[in-house]
Amino acid sequence: MNIFDFYNGHTKPYGIIGNPIEHSFSPVLQNTILQKMGFNGVYVPFRVDEKDMQKAVEGLYALGFEGLNVTVPHKISVMNYLCCIDDTAEKVGAVNTLKRTENGFKGYNTDILGLKKSFYINKIDVKGKKTMLIGAGGAANSAAVLLSQLGAEKIVFVNRTNEKAEALRKHISSFYSGETDVISFDDMYTYEKPDIVINATSVGMGEGVWESPVKESGFFKDINAVFDVIYIPWETKFLNDAKKYGCKCVNGFDMLIYQGIASYEIWHDISVSDETALEIKDALSEYFLKGGKKAVKRNEIK
Ligand code: ATR
Repeated sequence: MNIFDFYNGHTKPYGIIGNPIEHSFSPVLQNTILQKMGFNGVYVPFRVDEKDMQKAVEGLYALGFEGLNVTVPHKISVMNYLCCIDDTAEKVGAVNTLKRTENGFKGYNTDILGLKKSFYINKIDVKGKKTMLIGAGGAANSAAVLLSQLGAEKIVFVNRTNEKAEALRKHISSFYSGETDVISFDDMYTYEKPDIVINATSVGMGEGVWESPVKESGFFKDINAVFDVIYIPWETKFLNDAKKYGCKCVNGFDMLIYQGIASYEIWHDISVSDETALEIKDALSEYFLKGGKKAVKRNEIK
């Protein structure tokens, strides 16, 4: 890259707001995408306190920011400061991508798009399948909306806190006509076998952590595909156990990369080719597996 062609008076600004923000992987991810796409832009991290959110969003708009990502803990509160919100983000109830419009920023949710793409490239076909979703937080919310959109036959919610699973089930049932159920962790071993299981809890997350939300690994017998939203460690105990029973196993790294590419696509109104997306993923997985990941903790990443 020739620095004179980039970072000049024409450079378009992008960024991410969150708190904390220091460990976010998004600046590496988005600047890699900008570079790969040959676009004269720059992407920077901003730590913003909750009380300053309105000023920050309005200020970044006034400064001409073309697009922003939003991460923990602002994905819900940011919705108060937008001109409009895309339908899917509305359903998820959280926004992680802002796009500049004439009237202010419009909100989108690309976590769900990243998960969708990850299912697609890893050949996890949800349509007509019985699914089990472990967790009922932010990640589970996106996953549940996606499972409904992709036409799962059934979604079974499993969560430590039953009320949160019930609330998520109620929300999803307001637009999903498939079958739903809420069960406890104790029940999952005797419950009708699902085809696909998703871990959307934080159990097992972190370098050196070796825990799984599924305590009896025999659970994985006869299950087709297993997805973990976690990617640190690269292979969680959850995936390791599932692999021993022959399940197709996918971690959260593709979801991370593709949610970033989806934000770029929204900002630029383009579609990144599968080939370019793969090049971006390869460059980032090399960085990530070589140790760049040590700077990253999943809870602090959008
Ligand atoms: P995220 O945005 O990453 O989804 P979150 O909204 O804090 O994070 O949700 C974390 C999920 O992990 C929740 O489903 C949480 O269960 P509770 O709703 O009962 O809190 C789940 N979780 C976290 N620690 C857990 C543990 N030790 N055992 C079981 N579930 C756990």
